[in-house]
Amino acid sequence: MKDAAPQTIYLKDYTPPSYLVDSVHLTFRLSPEHTRVLSRIAFRPNPDAATKDFFLHGEELRLHSARIDGAEVSPQMTLEGLTCEVPDAPFIWESDVEISPIANTALEGLYISNGMYSTQCEAQGFRKITYYPDRPDVMSVFTVRIESDLPVLLSNGNPVAQGDGFAEWHDPWPKPAYLFALVAGELINHPDRFTTKSGKDVELNIWVRPGDEDKCAFGMEALKKSMKWDEDVYGREYDLDIFNIVAVDDFNMGAMENKGLNIFNSSCVLASPQTSTDANFERIEAIIAHEYFHNWTGNRITCRDWFQLCLKEGLTVYRDSQFTSDMRSAPVKRIEDVIALRGRQFREDNGPLAHPVRPDSFVEINNFYTATVYEKGAELIGMLKTLVGDDSYAKALDLYFDRHDGDAATIEDWLKVFEDATGRDLSQFKRWYEQAGTPRLSVSDSFEDGSYVLHFKQDTPATPGQDQKDPRVIPIAVGLLNPNGDEVVPTTVLEMTEAEQSFRFDGLAAKPVPSILRDFSAPVILQRDSTNEERAFLLAHDTDPFNKWEAGRALARNGLIAMIRDGAAPDAGYLNALQAVLRDDGLDPAFRALAMGLPGQDDLAQTLVDLGDVPDPMAIWQAVETLKQAMAQHMQDLLPRIYAQYQVDSPYRPDADQAGARALANAALALISRMDGGAQAQAQYDRADNMTQQLAALACLIADGKGNKAVQAFYDQWKTDRLVIDKWFSLQIAYCDPDQAADIARALTDHADFTMKNPNRFRATLGALAGHPAGFHHASGAGYALLTDWLLKLDPVNPQTTARMCSAFETWKRYDADRQAMILAQLDRILAQPGLSRDTTEMVTRIRN
Ligand code: PHE
Ligand code: ZN
Repeated sequence: MKDAAPQTIYLKDYTPPSYLVDSVHLTFRLSPEHTRVLSRIAFRPNPDAATKDFFLHGEELRLHSARIDGAEVSPQMTLEGLTCEVPDAPFIWESDVEISPIANTALEGLYISNGMYSTQCEAQGFRKITYYPDRPDVMSVFTVRIESDLPVLLSNGNPVAQGDGFAEWHDPWPKPAYLFALVAGELINHPDRFTTKSGKDVELNIWVRPGDEDKCAFGMEALKKSMKWDEDVYGREYDLDIFNIVAVDDFNMGAMENKGLNIFNSSCVLASPQTSTDANFERIEAIIAHEYFHNWTGNRITCRDWFQLCLKEGLTVYRDSQFTSDMRSAPVKRIEDVIALRGRQFREDNGPLAHPVRPDSFVEINNFYTATVYEKGAELIGMLKTLVGDDSYAKALDLYFDRHDGDAATIEDWLKVFEDATGRDLSQFKRWYEQAGTPRLSVSDSFEDGSYVLHFKQDTPATPGQDQKDPRVIPIAVGLLNPNGDEVVPTTVLEMTEAEQSFRFDGLAAKPVPSILRDFSAPVILQRDSTNEERAFLLAHDTDPFNKWEAGRALARNGLIAMIRDGAAPDAGYLNALQAVLRDDGLDPAFRALAMGLPGQDDLAQTLVDLGDVPDPMAIWQAVETLKQAMAQHMQDLLPRIYAQYQVDSPYRPDADQAGARALANAALALISRMDGGAQAQAQYDRADNMTQQLAALACLIADGKGNKAVQAFYDQWKTDRLVIDKWFSLQIAYCDPDQAADIARALTDHADFTMKNPNRFRATLGALAGHPAGFHHASGAGYALLTDWLLKLDPVNPQTTARMCSAFETWKRYDADRQAMILAQLDRILAQPGLSRDTTEMVTRIRN
């Protein structure tokens, strides 16, 4: 039955559910191998439905009995669930099913991780728990009874009863099944409280395994800040008596927003200065905020169907980025987000997996939790806000919460709210949701008689299934500087709606220098023939921090491209301009650390493709190495001064100020290390009292080929801390010589601590290999073969994580014939595996086409 050809599901085929659910009662009798799930579900025919067919999803369930209004029935089993004759009136469905949490290695449904029971139901995991209409537009009130001898028994909503061997929970807010959750185990809580703005007292808990209780304090502070921020900025208050967070070691994703019971990958909530880096702290704060914000954008207002995933994810990512900007530095957050967008989403948009922010078809929805849905989805919200303005955005959001509270909504509903709040027609804007691909925005300019004209042309390359693209509305934030570096036209948003369009600025004394796409006002690739002098000028004078950084990045990129294509020497202009930025103590250290970064090697490969070249990953790696060496030499006097100046003497705090200082000093260290044989890095390693300092030093030592001693010492120190050991696995691969990457990764998969059953460990190892472009795309093909070997082993165990990691191959069409042939051979080897999961089959098929 499992081998039936996978079906494609289309947005255009949506029909309302035939039956609605008024209430759900579930009883869990927990046992590792034979958990019993008893359900009692009140159904009623949906007056808006076209058919009266009764269908319940169900997978990997053993049905012991089923009853309708108390009388035993014999349902017909189908491929994905069951059907049954039912009355043409409200009725009660009862079933008794058996499941085996211990056998569940896919980590979807009810499973056991390190002795604790946990669930994951988004997107379609609830059907592995009991028979149910497992679709987000069926919302109901859940009451849950858990029977188990374990001390901590949690579910959604508020606790209603508790006794020897059982607990009962009731969630008054109707919700779809994907937000259901249950946790049971020997857990310890880190408790706190929060009083909402209307005076409601809420109990807060972070639940962890014994031994992790000293890693909860930061997450709890982040939670309280998030609750306050959502009240202050969006007027959203929490709506239950209790809010629980649980840390789980085995988890496919980052975290999950189950109503009142968020479940987190332990790597996304546990934090301590000794074991977490500054970057970890920032990410944990953002993910806690993200899941909490889902309570309104996702839970109170959910999605009608999975095509609307960006309705909750794009908006919630946008909200968590606003939160981080408010808690830390807005320009730094923006730059970090754009680096991530280009690294993951642009890459996706330029390859065979490109899809619209709102896809119109899928085979396996798990394959659509992508950078496009999340990160590009968030960019669309940002553009909408830029187009309508801050006040109208706030008005529209109020209307959205007001109008759609309790609904399972669509992108059409979302856009209608903005149209009603502003009177604007957003039909052209909607193309951003419907068309895949990253627009190329080319610019030319002219100046005559005091008038400056910017001429723009937009063009989006074809993507799978979409050859023709219509022009989109693009908000282009522009500022103009005069030749002295003073701003003559402050930031103005140009609204481009045509395929080609000009904008004029009058009354200028001299030809200005334009600063285009300030704050990265649209997710496009800006193409402009500009000179390195002009870029250096903007790096020195632009008032927009994003574009100031972007000018430096463009200089670095052009220099690297010239080195790769023409064998040019490192660009002295870039080195001088960068040195001037680093010397400017008026600039935020975190900004300067970002300015020292170079474009990613994968990013450079795409730039070369856009220039008509076939990228050679080894040549790219070599150019980056050569440039870093030149940076180290060119600034050999300045770097040690910076390193000394930005040492943090006060006790460790994971805040933006300290993190920025450490980031700058550590960026300097990475270059110093190339000149001093690793002496400074070893000294930092030896005295480090926090993970940021320790890990940065270790990375330098590994990159310099001097890491053996420290790698062993690090392991000995941390071997009992699984999250730190994940870092140990990934760092050895991330910073190694490309010629050795596959061998090192293979040796690590033989290490006693390697296990493919833990997604974090698998990603730390094989994901690190895939993230090392020159190592993964090594001419020997060893990287391709090793990853494929492990994907084939993991697929029967955990299809979701396997499928996600197949995207390592999504750039294959960029490369030369030899590499293409090697990758195709591996893709075919995957497709030939008998019983390959639907998840992986869909991904590999799409990548291959
Ligand atoms: N909805 C989760 C989030 O974005 C992500 C997730 C998806 C987690 C699917 C698990 C499974 O916060
Ligand atoms: Zn989310």
